Amino acid sequence: MRWLTGGYGTVEGTCAYFDVLAANAAAGSGKRGFGVWLDGRLAGYVDLEPDLGDGLDPGDVNLTYAVHPWARGRGVAVEAVRLVCEVLRTTAVGTRAALRIEPGNAASLRVADRAGFVLLREVVSATDTHPDGTPVTFRVFARDL
Ligand SMILES: CC(C)(COP(=O)(O)OP(=O)(O)OC[C@H]1O[C@@H](n2cnc3c(N)ncnc32)[C@H](O)[C@@H]1OP(=O)(O)O)[C@@H](O)C(=O)NCCC(=O)NCCS
Repeated sequence: MRWLTGGYGTVEGTCAYFDVLAANAAAGSGKRGFGVWLDGRLAGYVDLEPDLGDGLDPGDVNLTYAVHPWARGRGVAVEAVRLVCEVLRTTAVGTRAALRIEPGNAASLRVADRAGFVLLREVVSATDTHPDGTPVTFRVFARDL
């Protein structure tokens, strides 16, 4: 749950979040989200966020992803990252794709490796905190577009 949304989701909150993403998509700015489809079903999400600075360098576009449990372990996240990097390339958004992953998130670390990302550094977040208030540590990975 922590690595998905940071907390319990509600229908209202999720709808409001999707409205923000739809408005950003229409404006061509800010965080943009994509549904990931597998066998005709919504299998997960991948987002790109060009304006996130925490732990990243100028030109880096932060990517986040989540795959529904039924669809995991079939390469969905790796393929979603590949596709969203293609979107960044063709729309000329940013110069590098970046991932910020907590050291304990083994599945996501493996996705970074399989998607061809290189570890840049480990950073203590200036913005993200654990439920107890301590700052989150991220491993920062990047891949040229
Ligand atoms: C991380 C996540 C998106 C991976 O999705 P996925 O579609 O199952 O990933 P893929 O199938 O593309 O690749 C996963 C790789 O990680 C490996 N893996 C999966 N779970 C793992 C685990 N718990 N420990 C170690 N490796 C794991 C898989 O074996 C695979 O590697 P392989 O091809 O060498 O066998 C999914 O687990 C998820 O939604 N997690 C919760 C949200 C999240 O953590 N998002 C990322 C935040 S940075």
